Amino acid sequence: MEKLWGGRFQGKSEEWIDEFGASISFDQKLAKQDILGSLAHVKMLGHTGILTVEETAAITEGLQTLQAKLQEGNLQFSIENEDIHLNIETLLHQEIGAVAGKLHTARSRNDQVATDMHLFLKDVVQEILEKLHHLRQTFVEKAEEHVETIAPGYTHLQHAQPISFGHHLLAYYQMFTRDYARLTESLKRIDLSPLGSAALAGTTFPIDREFAAKELDFSGVYANSLDAVSDRDFILEFLSNCSLLMMHLSRFCEELILWCSYEFQYIELTDTFSTGSSIMPQKKNPDMAELIRGKTGRVYGNLFGLLTLMKGLPLAYNKDFQEDKEGMFDTSETVLACLTIMDGMVATMKVNKSRMYAATQKDFSNATELADYLAAKGLPFRQAHEIVGKLVLRCTQKGGYLQDIPFEEYQAISPLIEEDIYVTLQPETAVKRRHSLGGTGFDQVRLQLDHAHKELLTEN
Ligand code: ARG
Repeated sequence: MEKLWGGRFQGKSEEWIDEFGASISFDQKLAKQDILGSLAHVKMLGHTGILTVEETAAITEGLQTLQAKLQEGNLQFSIENEDIHLNIETLLHQEIGAVAGKLHTARSRNDQVATDMHLFLKDVVQEILEKLHHLRQTFVEKAEEHVETIAPGYTHLQHAQPISFGHHLLAYYQMFTRDYARLTESLKRIDLSPLGSAALAGTTFPIDREFAAKELDFSGVYANSLDAVSDRDFILEFLSNCSLLMMHLSRFCEELILWCSYEFQYIELTDTFSTGSSIMPQKKNPDMAELIRGKTGRVYGNLFGLLTLMKGLPLAYNKDFQEDKEGMFDTSETVLACLTIMDGMVATMKVNKSRMYAATQKDFSNATELADYLAAKGLPFRQAHEIVGKLVLRCTQKGGYLQDIPFEEYQAISPLIEEDIYVTLQPETAVKRRHSLGGTGFDQVRLQLDHAHKELLTEN
């Protein structure tokens, strides 16, 4: 079969080589964007008088027909036509004849493919932002239900200090809010048009790049044609932002998995988000959370794949770039799916308040309270720390916890300790009293919630 670029070739192409070089099996995902890009390009060619009114009309109509066929699922792509750009051009030729050959005036596949990907990512990022907004809303709603739910707070996965479970959830709200901000910020660079940079050097035709950019709803154009066709930072930024987002999702999944284990039983996931075992009838596994944690790995992989691909490439276009697409598609699909699953999982999870509370009672997570109590009464904190440390040791040897030590014993240790120590040692007191800005005190958690509500409202 004759190639669209076949002019300077004498040898025949071979199918197995064609197959290796082709990208149509995956870049057909860009069909919609490719046609949109061509529609804007031809409109610009007409607007600038590079093509006649008739030529412009014929090509536009042909492209619109292809667009309709694509929507109906009636476009047939072939490996002989290598990639989505040559496939669409060939189909256009079949549709309208030789005039189709004028579409590629003042354009190259190099600026074309970059344009397609900018258009694609713009849509995907918007979609991710919507889902992320919703997920943050879900975290806020859950947190609202659990402002006064007392849970153990951990460091080193050891009981550290009791906290409000709402506070814990709002920590994730903050991470997702940063993800949201990063993705929003990245739109500035995604929302730029490389179109009109042609192969690498621009063109001798009197094109109007800004006109075409406006047609495509881009807010600006790349300033340098070499950069425009060889920049993949916008994809890398996307992959890196998605990696961070997945890392956050994955950390929460890890907690969910722990929390629904027999040892914790802090939460229960609904049946919808759990699966059973083919051999052990009792099993209810948190598969969806595990899968999100697992899929994080492939998103990181996509980032590293493209970073590695880029590091040695000279300007401008290199065919290596063709390898930039699958990771981008895969990441988009993965992140969108994970956000949906996570949202449903969090919205429907059951929180076992009494288990969480119980976990803060038979432990030493109130040790800081006793040390702070002494320090507040004037004892240097280091000394207070030492005294409480010894008491904890004594408890672990004799049994019991700080709240079980009889009052006489406390007084013998320090006359600074009064009857109110038992209230001080209660987990709810410990949480409630942490009024410091951003702390776990109920009032502070409510403040965070107010702020989150306002933040979410301004995004709508
Ligand atoms: N399929 C190619 C890609 O994805 C399109 C650009 C091809 N340009 C070229 N000069 N071979 O990168």
